Order: sequence, then structure tokens, then C-alpha cells
Amino acid sequence: MRQDRTAMLYYGEAAFGHFADCAFAALDGGEVVGRAFAIPFAFGVDDRTTLPDAGWDEVIRWGHEDRMLGRRPTTMSALEIALLPKARVSGSSRAMLDALKGCARAKGFAELYAPVRPNQKHLVPRMPMRAYLERRRADGQHTDSWLRTHLAIGGEIVKIAPCSMTIVGTLAEWTQWTGVAFDRAGEIEIPGALVPVLVSAEHAVYVEPNVWIRHPV
Ligand SMILES: CC(C)(COP(=O)(O)OP(=O)(O)OC[C@H]1O[C@@H](n2cnc3c(N)ncnc32)[C@H](O)[C@@H]1OP(=O)(O)O)[C@@H](O)C(=O)NCCC(=O)NCCS
Repeated sequence: MRQDRTAMLYYGEAAFGHFADCAFAALDGGEVVGRAFAIPFAFGVDDRTTLPDAGWDEVIRWGHEDRMLGRRPTTMSALEIALLPKARVSGSSRAMLDALKGCARAKGFAELYAPVRPNQKHLVPRMPMRAYLERRRADGQHTDSWLRTHLAIGGEIVKIAPCSMTIVGTLAEWTQWTGVAFDRAGEIEIPGALVPVLVSAEHAVYVEPNVWIRHPV
């Protein structure tokens, strides 16, 4: 996922400091065990009337453009919440989300958006996201734990972002990035990827769907 070119507009050395007031580290004692990032952006200006289908990538481009133009942001989107496996204990993912919600509130925004990457979707990479969202446990809640966490604290699903993250590279690059042989055209499954990577004769592309969630703050 570090090969997403758009990510550089936020995580790159030239940009990163500009969004540091929307970045959090989770500490266990003195040790960093998690991180959370968000980006403010102007919503409702120009053609930004709905949340973008190109989710994660597009909201980074919007936030970057706003900063370049000196345009005042009106809201904020989460970009990442990640915990080390040993820190994935009861309540910690919720605490990370609360930190981002608190940040949005402190900036005077009415909501926090999030292009969410459902936690267990990688187990069924060929299932369309729409079908995945319909999966329920016996108690009627979503089977996906990360979606459940978002909804449990008041989030609401707005829509699917079908092409939230686009990662493209040559076959040699993909082999280097993943350790998997990209030696045939078609679809190749990569451990941890939410959908298969699409492979042609010259290049391969990963187009990750996410789920836009709105959190009133
Ligand atoms: C996303 C992430 C922060 C979520 O943290 P998490 O600790 O896995 O917690 P979740 O919010 O998914 O799950 C919370 C609950 O579901 C349970 N749960 C977690 N995985 C589960 C599974 N596979 N099946 C059933 N239940 C599960 C947890 O025990 C917890 O229950 P509790 O609150 O009753 O104790 C973490 O999985 C992570 O760092 N993933 C890698 C980075 C990533 O993809 N981030 C998402 C970007 S949007």
C-alpha cells in the first residue's frame, strides 16, 4: 500500500508536517503501538458535492489542493488507523477513532468522514463490496469487526468508494513489492489485499474499494 502514488501528497517528506495536527500516536508506556491520520478538506466547493468514488486517493488530492490554494477546510477525513497486532485489544481501535473525532470537533467541524477498509474483507477477495456489506452475524450486526466498531460509536455508512485506492506498477515492481510471481495475465490474489490485483501483459493494477462512513462529532 506504500506504493500508492497519491499517498506521497500526505505522507511524503515535503507534505507530512503540514498535517501533523491531525496525526496521533498510540502509546503503551513509552512504546508507540499505533497511529492515526486524518486530512482536513473543503467539501461542497466546486464539483465536490458528494463523497468521491475515488475515496482515499481523492480526499488526499482534495486536501492537498486546498492547502496549495490556501482554501479553508470545512471538514475532515480519516486516512488511517493502524494498531500493532499486540495492541489490538478491546477498546483500543475505538480510542483511536475517538482521537480523530475529537480532533475534528476541536477544529470546529460537524463530522469526521472515513474511507474505511473493512478488516476481514481480505478473506473474501472475490466478493463484491456490496455483497460483503450485506453479511450479518446472527445478532444482525455486520460480520466485519472494523465496520461494527465504526457503527457502534455512531458512524453511518454513506456509500461504497469503488476505486478508493489505485496502485499501478510494472510486473517486475509488483513482484518486488509482494514477493508473488506476476507471470500471467488475469487476476492474482495477494495476502491482505481486499480484491485481486488485475494483471495485463505489461502492468498490474490494484483498485481497492472502501466504504465511506460519516461520524457526526
Ligand atoms: C483496523 C484496526 C485498527 C482495528 O483494530 P482491531 O483491534 O482489529 O479492532 P476492531 O475494531 O476491528 O474490532 C473490535 C472488536 O471486534 C473483535 N474482533 C476483532 N477481529 C475479529 C474477527 N476477526 N472476528 C470477530 N471479531 C473480531 C475484537 O475482539 C473487538 O471486540 P471487543 O471490542 O468486543 O473486544 C486494526 O485491525 C489494524 O490496525 N489493522 C491494520 C491496518 C488497517 O487496515 N487499518 C484500517 C484502515 S481504515
